[in-house]
Amino acid sequence: MESNIQDEIKHDLALNYCADAIGVDEKDEAEAKRLRQAWIDHPDHTLMKALIAERAIFFVLLPFFRFCGNAGLREAAQSISRDEQVHVACGSIITRELGLSVSSSLDLLRKATINWVFEPLAANTPNKYINKKFWLESSDRLMYEAKLLVSRKLRPVGSLLSSNIMPETYPNTISFQYEKLTMVVSKIQETFPPYTPTPGDSLDLIMYKAGQSSVVEYIEQLLEDS
Ligand SMILES: [Fe+2]
Repeated sequence: MESNIQDEIKHDLALNYCADAIGVDEKDEAEAKRLRQAWIDHPDHTLMKALIAERAIFFVLLPFFRFCGNAGLREAAQSISRDEQVHVACGSIITRELGLSVSSSLDLLRKATINWVFEPLAANTPNKYINKKFWLESSDRLMYEAKLLVSRKLRPVGSLLSSNIMPETYPNTISFQYEKLTMVVSKIQETFPPYTPTPGDSLDLIMYKAGQSSVVEYIEQLLEDS
């Protein structure tokens, strides 16, 4: 937890550099500060509030920055995402061990926060990365589909995306990564289709093709097992 806090200090610094470079709107700043105060004042346990903020707010904002931000914001978001995955994993375990649950009012605050952030975006644009609905639904998925958040008050609405690495901790990040991974795998399958040796092929060619096939099969197997 201590090293997570040190990470957060660095994240603040990096994001503040981005804010300085891009500029901020005074009215937005004032609203953001009121929202921040609402999070601070909320009675749920601090660790639970941190976990929800990381999983259902930052795991939406960071991909948004990566897809729609300028070079500085993209770079900052990329490196922060790596730390946040660890934080969310850590927070999920600790809140579970402590038997903490999330209240409905914290969920409402989460909704208010994410709606406020994406309020300027339209909901009917075909480009999902600038579509408000896409990002709001991402936050809902992260909130409700994570196994560790199952409680009487907040029922999961579906199953998690499969993953071999702590799927309950960051399904949305995985969803983006999985989307990219699927694209990469289909490209690999297209580029290196199954190979059947013919009598004229040299041993070298057969071995070369077999090597390619085994790598493709290995990737397919990894996906199947995950
Ligand atoms: Fe964090």
